[in-house]
Amino acid sequence: MHASSPPGFDDALQRWNERFSQPGYLFGREPNAFLVQQSARLVPRARLLCVADGEGRNSTWLAARGHEVTAFDLSPVAVNKAQALAAELGVSVEYQISGTDTWAWSAAQYDAVVAIFIQFAAPAQRAALFAGMWQTLKPGGLLLIQGYTPKQLQYRTGGPQQLDHLYTAELLRELLPEAHWLELREHDAVLGEGSAHRGPSALIDAVARKP
Ligand SMILES: C[S@@+](CC[C@H](N)C(=O)[O-])C[C@H]1O[C@@H](n2cnc3c(N)ncnc32)[C@H](O)[C@@H]1O
Repeated sequence: MHASSPPGFDDALQRWNERFSQPGYLFGREPNAFLVQQSARLVPRARLLCVADGEGRNSTWLAARGHEVTAFDLSPVAVNKAQALAAELGVSVEYQISGTDTWAWSAAQYDAVVAIFIQFAAPAQRAALFAGMWQTLKPGGLLLIQGYTPKQLQYRTGGPQQLDHLYTAELLRELLPEAHWLELREHDAVLGEGSAHRGPSALIDAVARKP
């Protein structure tokens, strides 16, 4: 038990470490399709932060495109695998092991923050997480978000099973009241990301610009 861990932290750490200890890449080695599509919005050699990056499929892909990428995740097992993937691909990413609650959200550091399927946070933790991600963006910076909507509870093809962890457009507007929305769209699609995100899925795609 970490002395300063929030309730449930050690359970989550153990659960994610166990999931990532299986052979292969739980969410695949290919980048998230929404991120690939939205990456055209990034400035060249952008300074990027990948939050809860897991096994590195997104951070490594962005680094291979010439961006300067920092990435962190709660799970050391995942970060080890991300480092191995980066070495295999010959790209450089600054990896850190950290929970979102202990990450130092230094102000105005990044051109974009990447938040792909980071719905581990219950509402109180999520409010702090979104405030941190917003704070660490430079003015004009982008927050790229993909997550599941409540309809995903019917599909059961990935993501958390707790309703209050899921996103709606209305919730994201409330969490980021200053955002200029370049994209904010709930839609269904078929995902094929490793073994964990597979099949018909209820998604939300969001791109918020910080004024
Ligand atoms: C659904 S996975 C997505 C991983 C990655 N973003 C991707 O799209 O491949 C969620 C990730 O959140 C990480 N995680 C869970 N709780 C966390 C926390 N409190 N702080 C940071 N990362 C956390 C897990 O270890 C896991 O890698």
